[in-house]
Amino acid sequence: MQTLKLGFIGAGFVAKFHAVALKLVRGAELVGVYALKGAEELAAFARANQLGPCKVYPNVAELCKNCDVVAVLAPNFARVELVEQIVEAVKAGAELKGLICEKPLARTVAEAKRLVELASQASLPTAYFENQIHIKAISKALAQLAPLQKLMGPIALARSAEEHAGPHEGWFWDPTRQGGGVLSDMGCHSIAVSWFVLNPPGKPPTFLEPVSVNAETSLLKWGQPRYRRQLLDRMGVDYAKTPAEDFATGIVTFRNPETSQLVKAQFTNSWMYDKQGLRLLIDGLGPGYAFELNSLSSPLEVFIGDEAAEAVADAEGALEKATASRGLLTIQPNEADLYGYVDELADARNAFLAGKDALLNWQYGLEITRLCQAAYLSAERRKTIDLTDPAIQQELNSYTSLIAQGRGAEVLYK
Ligand SMILES: NC(=O)c1ccc[n+]([C@@H]2O[C@H](COP(=O)([O-])OP(=O)(O)OC[C@H]3O[C@@H](n4cnc5c(N)ncnc54)[C@H](O)[C@@H]3O)[C@@H](O)[C@H]2O)c1
Repeated sequence: MQTLKLGFIGAGFVAKFHAVALKLVRGAELVGVYALKGAEELAAFARANQLGPCKVYPNVAELCKNCDVVAVLAPNFARVELVEQIVEAVKAGAELKGLICEKPLARTVAEAKRLVELASQASLPTAYFENQIHIKAISKALAQLAPLQKLMGPIALARSAEEHAGPHEGWFWDPTRQGGGVLSDMGCHSIAVSWFVLNPPGKPPTFLEPVSVNAETSLLKWGQPRYRRQLLDRMGVDYAKTPAEDFATGIVTFRNPETSQLVKAQFTNSWMYDKQGLRLLIDGLGPGYAFELNSLSSPLEVFIGDEAAEAVADAEGALEKATASRGLLTIQPNEADLYGYVDELADARNAFLAGKDALLNWQYGLEITRLCQAAYLSAERRKTIDLTDPAIQQELNSYTSLIAQGRGAEVLYK
């Protein structure tokens, strides 16, 4: 079996998740990491777990010279400059086989277009990392329901929610650096996974054509004075001045180009889900059949009483974004696999070794960016956005939401 040498840019939360996932992926090793912070620790983790002879590199150019594939796992605001540096390295002779970028591809449609253009300048296959599409339970549900979709008709409504109590780093909360609030951060997951499950069996991820978007953005918890203060103290972000939404919901309508049937994707995302930790709730409803996935259903529960809780150091040992270390806890023993990271990495390895794009490429990431930005536009205008209207398509190409401009108060405090 051929082995693909991976290099990571970024060594934070998601890079660590991918490193854990790599324990379960054959034919891929982590050989290098470049990051402003955390690189030594991640490289030591990789070596200790036999993930590869991982070295820390001082810049993008050196990393690119020493790996086959670069994964951009750094914050959204650094995407364009980092990919520009990768493309420079390729022009200077680095022999890469592929480029990976974490979700969301970009903060605006214009940035996403720039990234697609840069990858094409370097003639490199791409992978857009949207882990939820690779969740094993989703693949299993779709395989199980494929004959029913043929017999009874396709899934007509998909609902997807990703919610937790709020991100771990200040830059996520800052709409000007992140690109918005929870809609930009997690709406991209929920819109993508619903679109994916709505596609009839055997069709590509962009088969169904987006027709319209209707969405709302709100600030339900973190705009209250008490929680604004908490956010300012903990994350250094002032939601009195530059707020972002902590709740978003909406509906994307798609048309089947072969049958003209309209189907709907309903998404809900929040940073105010004060329960056990991250919850993914995804369902699909067709005529006479359905599936439902709830990531908080686990065969494993642990109970920790108040007295014993003194000994518990890390709530997140139970679950991503867990905020409690006592009571009845939901524990997921293998989150990296549960959330789809393992299959996403395996898909990229197979595609790049074959010289192809992964199942989801950067052009797909651009389409998801367009849908998220259309959702912001809908929330700002308080109306349904017609995605088939050439004037709207043109407007989205240069659109930056008021929230991402730092003018969220005009939308969220009205
Ligand atoms: N798929 C998922 O579910 C998922 C989960 C979390 C994060 N993400 C995405 O992954 C990306 C990173 O998120 P995170 O949670 O790991 O962030 P993080 O803040 O925890 O880590 C960011 C890492 O990038 C490094 N970094 C920052 N700027 C850099 C630069 N200019 N050059 C090199 N390194 C730089 C930091 O030092 C750090 O090591 C984001 O785009 C985020 O949306 C995806």
